[in-house]
Amino acid sequence: MLMMNHPPLRLALTLLSSLPLLACGGDTVPAGSDSSATGTGKPSLTYHRDARAILETKCNTCHVEGAIAPFALSDFESVTTNAGIAKYALEHSTMPPWPPAAGCNEYSHDRSLSPTERETLLAYFEGEMAEGDPADYTKPTTTVAPIDPHLTVKMSSAYTPLVEPDDHRCFIIDWPETETKFLTGYQVVPGKAEVVHHVIVFKVDAASAADFRAMDEAEAGPGYECFAGPAASGSDSPAQAAGAMIAAWVPGAPVARFPADSGIRMEPGSLLVMQMHYNTQSASPAPDQTSLQLEMADQVAKPGVAQIFTKFNWLSPGGMPIPAGEEKVTLEADIDVSQFLSFTGGWTELGLEAGSEVAIHGAGLHMHQLGQWSRASVSHGDGSESCLVEIDDWDFNWQGQYKLLEPVKMNPTTDTLHLACRWDNSAQNQPFIDGKQAAPKDVEWGDDTRDEMCLTALFITKP
Ligand code: HEC
Repeated sequence: MLMMNHPPLRLALTLLSSLPLLACGGDTVPAGSDSSATGTGKPSLTYHRDARAILETKCNTCHVEGAIAPFALSDFESVTTNAGIAKYALEHSTMPPWPPAAGCNEYSHDRSLSPTERETLLAYFEGEMAEGDPADYTKPTTTVAPIDPHLTVKMSSAYTPLVEPDDHRCFIIDWPETETKFLTGYQVVPGKAEVVHHVIVFKVDAASAADFRAMDEAEAGPGYECFAGPAASGSDSPAQAAGAMIAAWVPGAPVARFPADSGIRMEPGSLLVMQMHYNTQSASPAPDQTSLQLEMADQVAKPGVAQIFTKFNWLSPGGMPIPAGEEKVTLEADIDVSQFLSFTGGWTELGLEAGSEVAIHGAGLHMHQLGQWSRASVSHGDGSESCLVEIDDWDFNWQGQYKLLEPVKMNPTTDTLHLACRWDNSAQNQPFIDGKQAAPKDVEWGDDTRDEMCLTALFITKP
């Protein structure tokens, strides 16, 4: 997936996909041969019995006609045609896109393949790739209840992506409620699924609403360009500039619900800012008008905050130097969560005394294009550590918020939040601009495409 950003590799992959059978590799026994199974006497795997259900749950949320992925893997024919490239992606673990590194923590809605699923798919692609009997197919079961929308909001008008292949644009949506409500769950409904790569929704308080409206008005057409986030440029308060990330979605993401008894407080006069990442690599630009279905409650026992954390000094000029040409630049920080939440008003929103114990339910990380690796963890006062999220193959195009299976408890008076980021600013790792690889330059904190950031977004409630 990351590779698709680099034209030579993209070309190589395009070639691979157009030569599906050759691309299966030299070790593949030609179809029809007697010993074509696995050589261990096991029967050869078939599409209907072995591969189909796994492809449906782990690939078809994106790889179907009309969705974001560049080709379908949704029936025997499309799977056979794309077998070479699919096997390549499985061997290199580039698909499905699931950035969190194994071994840090466990998340709900994990999109990754289990080791057995991966082995089964690989064995299928290495074998005869026979269709088999449709009667052998077992339909996968799903458990997520559909959303019960109390409110549906959408982009005020349709927008056709202008910047290709990647257009990052923010759209302001007025919050229509006239009383305090709590957002408890949501489902993003893309208008034109072929071009919607991901969606992140931010909440902006009434006090900052005018700054964001001004950004919108300063640009012609619906919305405004926002590569790094909806941030009001030049603002010196990261918390305010960023808004609070309240929802994150990638194609195929199921209904999302906040942990039991919790939700995010929404006040009258707020704004939602919907950051859309459009990708037109495999579909031509077409008008999109994405909507959000929201589940709400009048009250929740544990109001939550979606808070971005970083080290303030990194934002000052020269505070986060990433020198041109350096291959490994690592910065780390211990963040005082209590001080941070005092500064942002988070304690009030949580309904807690400053310094009280909190529970962390979800975590995400954010860097730009030079990012390689990042990790957020809690260092407990007793010397133990809880890893929240780690990404060891950072890809700006696949960002998300990961919901922990078990919340991590934190006592902000004895525990600190540890955040680390590593960048590669060497010549080989520069972005392509108009088809040409840019030369390295000194980089520091900023909103622009070629600036960098290092932050973690956590969803926190009362324990
Ligand atoms: C969440 C959406 C999503 C899921 C799930 C997904 N893909 Fe993809 N896939 C994409 C997109 C989008 C691309 C285009 C390149 C990119 O943006 O990374 C892609 C590209 C590919 C490619 C082209 C080469 C590459 O690695 O980029 C292959 C092969 C592929 N996917 C196979 C699979 C297989 C096999 C599965 C399931 C095991 C899967 N994908 C699951 C979205 C998805």
